[in-house]
Amino acid sequence: MTRTVCHTRVLDSTVMSKKKSRSSFVCRECHAEHSHWGGKCNGCGAWNTLEELEAAPIAAGVAKKSSPGVRGRLEPLEPLSAIGSEEEVRSLSGIADLDLVLGGGLVPGSFILIGGEPGVGKSTLLLEIARRFPKDIYYFTGEESVQQVALRARRLGIDKNADGEHLFISRETDLESICTRISRERPALAVIDSIQTVYGATRDSLPGSVAQLKEAAMMLLETVKNSRVPLIATGHITKDGAIAGPRLLEHMVDTVLYFESDRLNHYRMLRAIKNRFGPVGEAAFFEMGRDGLTPLDGLRPTVIHDSAPGRVYSVILEGSRPIGVEVQSLVSRSAYGQCRRMAEGLDTRRLVLLAAVLEKFLKARLAECDIFANLAGGLTADEPALDLSLCAAILSSYQEADLQGLGCIGEVGLSGEVRPVARLAERVAELTRLGCRRILVPAQQSSTELAGAGNPSGQTVRGENVEVIEIADVASLARHLGTPAPAVVTK
Ligand code: TYD
Ligand code: MG
Repeated sequence: MTRTVCHTRVLDSTVMSKKKSRSSFVCRECHAEHSHWGGKCNGCGAWNTLEELEAAPIAAGVAKKSSPGVRGRLEPLEPLSAIGSEEEVRSLSGIADLDLVLGGGLVPGSFILIGGEPGVGKSTLLLEIARRFPKDIYYFTGEESVQQVALRARRLGIDKNADGEHLFISRETDLESICTRISRERPALAVIDSIQTVYGATRDSLPGSVAQLKEAAMMLLETVKNSRVPLIATGHITKDGAIAGPRLLEHMVDTVLYFESDRLNHYRMLRAIKNRFGPVGEAAFFEMGRDGLTPLDGLRPTVIHDSAPGRVYSVILEGSRPIGVEVQSLVSRSAYGQCRRMAEGLDTRRLVLLAAVLEKFLKARLAECDIFANLAGGLTADEPALDLSLCAAILSSYQEADLQGLGCIGEVGLSGEVRPVARLAERVAELTRLGCRRILVPAQQSSTELAGAGNPSGQTVRGENVEVIEIADVASLARHLGTPAPAVVTK
């Protein structure tokens, strides 16, 4: 009995000491919380990434308030029907596709975070917004000096035609000063480049640390919600793609956009990962040139000007936009008895799988061949709707048969069947626009969906010189391509 009491006391004192300890440790990379410091994060295994996070004084206040007998004013609790829905007036950024990604423009009081690797063009994008935004913008730059921003703005031609009159640049990085300025002067848009350079004086940790980022995000959020000023802040992303430091920022802000470049660095794409005020999945496209970022109305279309064995056209979807792509394949005899499968911009596992399907159901002797596949133009996509085009490209190269600008849309299943895809009619329309005159589509859906789009049902649908052909499985694909008994390719 005595022992039990003694044990309880020891336990109590441990709990007490734990309660007293107000620090926790947070991993800079994955944001896993730890009660003790350690060299290695238990969450992601990274070394030397734990930072001390002291409990904020506010938290202590909250703890006191939550005790019984609340003395402060209680926020009213209203029934839903009594709460008026204010029609929010969004302001347009001036870049039509950016407004589309945001769900129709900038919502008053919204906090938008743009993440991207260093050098992708975040600061340039902010200036492109400033070039087009018709009202006052406050631009807080912690990354560059005021002169550097002005120099870049001049190089981009922003000072001409009174565009520069709306842009006010400050080197301010002090959190309280930024918040005070925004609340007092209420610009039409505030911009911070970057959130990692902002610091609050109440913390003794360095700018960019977890504690600083957390405080900055909280205070800025409070400020913009009260002042109804929309705020765009940039944030660096780490090697593994997360916004550096805390993923926590992503939970706190209203909208998270990622700015990324394609495989060959031709295009810049801005995508919404999270959006409280609109759909995610939309993308805006830009081209980085000598005169800054030029917004593109979708990607530059794939032009069907010539044809060769192994080339087939298809369509991917970027948000609401169908984009024509060229799928290429090269099939050659394996030199070393061990066949290789390599894909650029396409999923290699999908290539392996489709090669196996063709081998099984068409008796194609692909095991003796290397197969290379590529999505032309540096794009990357892993849509199943590209399957049929990849199969056609492989067969075309295997047979050395020129398919002459053939378009293919459809997913291919493991038993060789061609399966339906989303938004078939729009994809067919895009291929038609690009100049495809022969388009293969899944037999399971073409009659119904394309009839709705103005085409009569039937096995072969003709209209405007476009032949739309229903394909049920890979065997009917091979029949259509005129590849009845594939021979082993000769080098
Ligand atoms: P920047 O906007 O500074 O990137 P971030 O803020 O994301 O770090 O862009 C830097 C890159 O953009 C740099 O490599 C040069 C290139 N660039 C151009 O090619 N043309 C231009 O007109 C500008 C301003 C930048
Ligand atoms: Mg920058």
